[in-house]
Amino acid sequence: MNSCGLFSEDVGSFFRSPVREIFKKVDLNSIYSFAGGYPSAETFPLEEIRQTISEVIDKYGAKAFQYGATQGVMELREAVAERYGVPVERVQITSSSQQGIDVCTRVLVDPGDVILTSSPSYLGALQSFRSYRADIRGVRHHNDLEAYRLAYEEELSRIREEGKKVKFLYMIPDFQNPSGESLTLQERRMLVALAREHGFLIVEDSPYRELRYEGEHIPTMYSLAPDHVIHLGSFSKIFAPGFRLGWAIAHPEILDKIYVCKQSLDLCPPILDQYVAAEFLRSGRLDENLKKSIDLYRGKRDLLLDQLGKHMPAGVTWTHPEGGLFLFLTMPEGFDAVKFYDEALEAGVAYVAGEFFHPDGSGKNTMRMNFSFMSGQRIIEGVELLAKLLSRLPSCAE
Ligand SMILES: Cc1ncc(COP(=O)(O)O)c(C=O)c1O
Repeated sequence: MNSCGLFSEDVGSFFRSPVREIFKKVDLNSIYSFAGGYPSAETFPLEEIRQTISEVIDKYGAKAFQYGATQGVMELREAVAERYGVPVERVQITSSSQQGIDVCTRVLVDPGDVILTSSPSYLGALQSFRSYRADIRGVRHHNDLEAYRLAYEEELSRIREEGKKVKFLYMIPDFQNPSGESLTLQERRMLVALAREHGFLIVEDSPYRELRYEGEHIPTMYSLAPDHVIHLGSFSKIFAPGFRLGWAIAHPEILDKIYVCKQSLDLCPPILDQYVAAEFLRSGRLDENLKKSIDLYRGKRDLLLDQLGKHMPAGVTWTHPEGGLFLFLTMPEGFDAVKFYDEALEAGVAYVAGEFFHPDGSGKNTMRMNFSFMSGQRIIEGVELLAKLLSRLPSCAE
């Protein structure tokens, strides 16, 4: 087909997900895969889902298969509003949080507008931002609060000098993908204060928030500034990603734009899925199942941390997440996780190179490891294999 000159300018900015490319190359079950962000299939409550679908059909009949409201079915909006203590008028159901990210970008960003984010940040969000030709500025984390604030102030004054406009700051404050780390309350307050002062919004993406394995819950950024923050949530990690359901909580003026945008995207989120999710929430089955998932993942996280401690060569460090599905490894300077990748895959172990998560392509000596997908035994064998391969490299040799 000769499609030359037919595609939009946006298409030139599309960026293929390296994670999905990995999935195309190999069967994840045939290797030790620390690569994807898949929840464990063990956490999907198949029997309860079967039962709930049947109950939903009995209760709603054909309505469960008809088109529905663009904002989402009222039963689910109410259940979400009650769970998170927000007015129902502030709840929009999305076809997953990936759509939430994309819709926010679509309604807020023109080509060349600036989106601030952490460096590293979630790859799927970077893909969406690039597709709208946003100017993405990543800011590194500093443990010292004042140094962290100054890093943002410096970036903001550079942006001002360039005559550009920041539309929003995209953050994953809870158990970030890829690093697994969370923002402290003071950091959240500082960023919210910057947003107020400089007149930009915050998109708070929090699909892992309820997967906490230790420590105290920290208030959402939304709760600190409900009119400046769009909070995105997802059923993918607390229920099952196949449902493709999430939610956006925001000021009604912002939600109205998202609502109109969604009319042209998908008319409405999937109806049967929404009724099933609403029933799951309302009946308490979601929380019962979530408790089991949290116990399972806590065990897997502990196991991975333990195995890394036992086997990784000196000079390799990693984060210690209090929740979520990932941790982040830093290898000695000079290591290139992209170059090393084929060798690792050939030997039977997969990860995601950290540079893909850095908007400026830095972080070459980093990698993301997932701990939710594989069984405990495979985590043990996978770490041993990865550590053995790394120990052979001159940059990692002890
Ligand atoms: C930070 C973050 N946001 C959004 C998503 C997308 O999740 P979903 O579209 O399944 O809700 C992911 C998926 O891994 C993620 O890590």
